[in-house]
Amino acid sequence: MIFSRITGTGGYLPERVMTNAELEKVVDTSDEWIAARSGIRERRIAADDEFTCDLAEKAALRAIRSAGKTPADIDLIVGATSTPDEEFPSTACLLQERLGISGPPAFDVQAVCAGFLFAVDVVDKFIRTGSAKCALVIGAETFSRILDWTDRRTCVLFGDGAGAVILEADEEPGILSTHLHSDGRYKDLLCVPTGVSRNYERIQDGSAYVTMEGGEVFRWAVTAMSDIVKEALDANGMTHDQIDWLVPHQANIRIINAIGRRTGIPDEKVIVTVDRHGNTSAASVPLALDEGIRKGRIRPGQMVLIEGFGGGFTWGAAMIKM
Ligand code: COA
Repeated sequence: MIFSRITGTGGYLPERVMTNAELEKVVDTSDEWIAARSGIRERRIAADDEFTCDLAEKAALRAIRSAGKTPADIDLIVGATSTPDEEFPSTACLLQERLGISGPPAFDVQAVCAGFLFAVDVVDKFIRTGSAKCALVIGAETFSRILDWTDRRTCVLFGDGAGAVILEADEEPGILSTHLHSDGRYKDLLCVPTGVSRNYERIQDGSAYVTMEGGEVFRWAVTAMSDIVKEALDANGMTHDQIDWLVPHQANIRIINAIGRRTGIPDEKVIVTVDRHGNTSAASVPLALDEGIRKGRIRPGQMVLIEGFGGGFTWGAAMIKM
C-alpha cells in the first residue's frame, strides 16, 4: 500500500510585528481585553508590497529544503488561501512559476481557516492513488487586507503568514486518516460577503471585510473541533492518551483550552502559536506544525493530530505518524 508522509515543513511570517499596544491606537480596545479574550499578544502584518504568494514562496522553499528536495522534485502543488494575490490564476499557479516548475498540476482549495486540512486531504488521496509522489501543500494568507480596521470585534484577531509541508509517497504511514466536514447553513456567521460576482462595489470602494458573529463562531468551533478529535481517534481505534501532540487551528486560546478539556488532551501536549501569530487562517496549522518540529518538540515517530475550523462552516482533521 502507498501512504503519504510528511518529509519537510516550512513557515514564514512577515517581519512587521503589530502588538496589542499598537492596536489600542487604532480601535477602542486594550491589551488586557485582547489577551484575556483571545490569548493574542501580537500578530504579523505583511508589508504593502508583500503579497500572499510572496509569503507562500518563502514557506515553500523552507519546506522543500527541509525535505532535502529541490523544486524539480515537486509533482503537485495544492494551496489553501482566502486571500489570493489575484482572482485567477490560483496562488498555487503563481507559486509554481516562482519555483520554476512547469507541468505538474497546481491549484488552490477554498475552505477558509480549515483550508490546509482540506488541501492535505486532497493531496493524501492523490498520493495514495499513485497520482503524485512528492507534493507541496501550502496555507498562505494576508488576512490583514480583508479586515475592517475600524471594527474591534474582528481586526484584533487575525494576522498574516504562510506554512507549507512536503508530502511524499511511502510504504509506511504517514497520514493515517483524514476527516472533513462542512455545513453551509452557517455561511453568514463568518464571511466576507463580497466577491467579483456579488457586491463587487464593496471591492471597488474598499469595504470587502470579514464579518463575524464571534460568540456563535466560538461555540461552534469548540464543539466541531472537539468532536472531530474523537472522530479521528475512533477511526484509528485510539484513545486520547496515544496522541503525542495536538496541533489545532490557532484562533483563540480559549477555544484551544476548551478542546483540551473536552477531549482529555492536556495543555502540555498542545502546540500554541496564537499568542504570537494571531489567527492566520489557512496558514495557522502548518505554521504551528513547523514551529513544533523546528523547536524539537514534535519528533519523528510521534503521533500528531492536526485540525482546523473555518467559515462555511468547514472543519477537518488528520491523524499523522511523523
Ligand atoms: N476590545 C474591547 N472590547 C471589545 C472588543 C475589543 N477588541 N471586541 C469586542 N468587544 C466588546 C464587545 O463589544 C462587547 O461589548 P458589549 O457587551 O458592550 O456589547 C464585549 O466586548 C464582550 O463581547 P463578547 O463578544 O461577549 O466577548 P467574547 O468573550 O465572546 O469574546 C471573541 C469575543 C470575538 C474574542 C470571541 O467570541 C471569539 O474568539 N470568537 C471566535 C472568533 C474566531 O475564532 N473566529 C475565527 C474562527 S476560524
